[in-house]
Amino acid sequence: MKIYDFKNGINDNDLKEIKEIILNDGILVIPTETVYGIGANIYSDIAINKIFSAKGRPNDNPLIVHVSDLSMLDEIVSEIDLVSRKLIDNFWPGPLTIIFPKKDNISNLITANLDTVGVRMPANEIACKIIDYCHVPLAAPSANVSGKPSGTNVVDIYDELFERVDAIVDGGKTDIGIESTVVKVIDGIVHILRPGKVTKEDFIKIGLEVSEDNVNRKVTKDEKVLSPGMKYKHYAPNAETILVYSKDNHKMVKEINRLILENGSKKVVVIVSLLNKDKYNADTLIMGDDLSSVSQNIFSLLREADRMNPDLIIIEGVVSEKIGSAIMNRLIKACSHNYIELE
Ligand code: TXA
Ligand code: MG
Repeated sequence: MKIYDFKNGINDNDLKEIKEIILNDGILVIPTETVYGIGANIYSDIAINKIFSAKGRPNDNPLIVHVSDLSMLDEIVSEIDLVSRKLIDNFWPGPLTIIFPKKDNISNLITANLDTVGVRMPANEIACKIIDYCHVPLAAPSANVSGKPSGTNVVDIYDELFERVDAIVDGGKTDIGIESTVVKVIDGIVHILRPGKVTKEDFIKIGLEVSEDNVNRKVTKDEKVLSPGMKYKHYAPNAETILVYSKDNHKMVKEINRLILENGSKKVVVIVSLLNKDKYNADTLIMGDDLSSVSQNIFSLLREADRMNPDLIIIEGVVSEKIGSAIMNRLIKACSHNYIELE
C-alpha cells in the first residue's frame, strides 16, 4: 500500500504509477470535493469486486461513476433528458450525482442490476486529472467501511482501509465534507434521493420542479426504494448516539444537560457548536461556527468521538437550511433515528 502526497501539487511520475494501478485491476483512494472515494476502473469487474469487499458493501447498493468530461458520460449513458442536461450545465463539475439510463457496457456489478447508473463530474483537480490521465471513468463509493462515516481526510481513512486498498492519494482535508446530492429526473421533475451541498433551492432557482419525497424517509429492509443506499445503516459511531435540536438554542442546551445528568454514570461526549462549547459538564468536540465548517468536520468528529471511547455521544443538531438539511439527514442516520426535536 502506497500513499501519494498530492497536497502540494500533482506529481507526473506518481500519476504514471497510479495509472498502472487503475489499469491493472487495482483500487485506490482518491480525493474529491465532497468526501474521499475508493476508485476503480469501471471496465474491470475484478477491481469493482475488490471495492465491494474492501468496504464490506452489500452488492445491491450501486456505485457512482466519476467522469472528467462529457464524452465519458456519452460513453456510458443511453439517454440524457433535457432537465438532466440543464442540471449538468448548471452544476457540473460539482457535488451533484445524476441517475441516467445506462448503456450495456456498464457492468451490472456497478449498478447492482439496475438499468440506471449514477454519474458525477467532481470539482476536484486531483480526481479529474487522474480520471483524465487514465482515460477511463472511475467507479468510486465513499472511502469508508460500509456503515461508517465517509472518509474526509487521510488519517481517518488510513486507519480503516490501509490493508484493503492498493494506494491512497492524499489531497488534504475535503472541502465540503459530506457526499454529493443524488438526483433522478422522472417526468421532468428532479427527485432528490440524497440531499447534499446542491439543494432544492438551487434547483428551484434555475426553474426546475423538485420533489423531496424520498429524503429522510425511514425505509424497511425489504422495501424497494429509488436509491438502494437509503435502506442501510450509515455513518454510525460505535457508541449509542443521540441527536438533539431546537431552534431555541437555550432549550437545546437545557435538554442536552438534562440527558448528561440522566446518564450520570456514563462517559458522555457532546459534539457542539463553537457557541456552546463551555455549556456542558462533559467532554466536548467542536464542530465549528457555521454550516460549512460543520459539514466539513462532522464525519471526522464522529470518528474522533468514537476514539474517546464514550458510552454515549450527544450531537447538537443544526438548522435545516442550505447544506444544513444534508447535515441533518446524515446525523439522523448516524444516531439511528434516535432524534429529539424540541419546539
Ligand atoms: O460525493 C459522493 O457522492 C461520494 C464521492 C466519492 O463521489 N461518493 C459516494 O458514493 O457517496 P456512495 O457509494 O457512498 O454513495 C452512492 C449513493 C448510494 O446511496 C447509492 O445507493 C446511490 O448513490 N446510487 C448509486 N447509483 C444509483 C442508481 N443507479 N440509482 C439510485 N441510486 C444510486
Ligand atoms: Mg457511502
